[in-house]
Amino acid sequence: MASTIDRTKPSPARMYDYMLDGKENFEVDRKQAHIVLEAAPEAKQAAVVNRRFLVAATQYAASLGVKQFLDLGSGLPTQDNVHQVAQRVVPDASVVYVDNDPSVRLHAQSLLNDPRTGYIEGDVMTPAEIIANPVTQSLIDFSKPVAVFLVAVLHFVPDGNDPYGIVHDLVEQVAPGSLLAISHVTTDEISPVVSERIARQQLAVPLNLRSGEQIRRFFDGLDLVDPPGFVFTEQWAPDQKLPADDSPLKLRCGVALKP
Ligand SMILES: C[S@@+](CC[C@H](N)C(=O)[O-])C[C@H]1O[C@@H](n2cnc3c(N)ncnc32)[C@H](O)[C@@H]1O
Repeated sequence: MASTIDRTKPSPARMYDYMLDGKENFEVDRKQAHIVLEAAPEAKQAAVVNRRFLVAATQYAASLGVKQFLDLGSGLPTQDNVHQVAQRVVPDASVVYVDNDPSVRLHAQSLLNDPRTGYIEGDVMTPAEIIANPVTQSLIDFSKPVAVFLVAVLHFVPDGNDPYGIVHDLVEQVAPGSLLAISHVTTDEISPVVSERIARQQLAVPLNLRSGEQIRRFFDGLDLVDPPGFVFTEQWAPDQKLPADDSPLKLRCGVALKP
């Protein structure tokens, strides 16, 4: 059964919406976002650049002729959602959005007006359930390539919940020629000041920062699209590069093909 929205607790989806200048957030989310911004003022810029990576990866997948997208930890609908970007290139592209935040379900209703787009309130930590869900099964043919997006979500999965196993299980299910796109907050190049501040914050939803090496391991067994390779999000689509920051809180990212 779908869960209800708790307005007393900050949600990562609504905090991210706030960082992207969206309107679907509450005071509790803005307050929590400011705690993050105080520790790492560049988090807002990181959110914008991350979103650009998502758009660029969608365009890339669609340009290869991939027509099916599974967007896990999709976030609140914003400008340029995956189905809109993909359908500009491949008009009959189908997209299944998945998020575990009930606020996202509420706002996703508008997306469901598109017959090729579906939404599931689900947890990325149970990939078998997402794949078996009738919405997924009706929109995605797993004998054909699928673009699987885990964009800015795996850092919400603690080591104890086996993030590598989750990615492995998803990749196992998709056909050769499928794509995996990941971005993930990294400890790489983080200043000790920011790192220490983040560690001191009692965030409502803790971030699991990982090194570039740890994040790269998610692509083991796959062919990284190179160039641009495994890079910081601002480098994945160089034409959209934003100015570098002296005290970065960055995301590492990549897109890979299943051989
Ligand atoms: C930072 S936002 C990223 C949104 C979008 N993928 C993007 O990059 O623009 C992270 C999203 O992941 C969702 N999320 C966090 N943990 C999740 C989980 N275990 N299962 C599904 N979604 C999750 C949050 O609710 C939030 O909407």
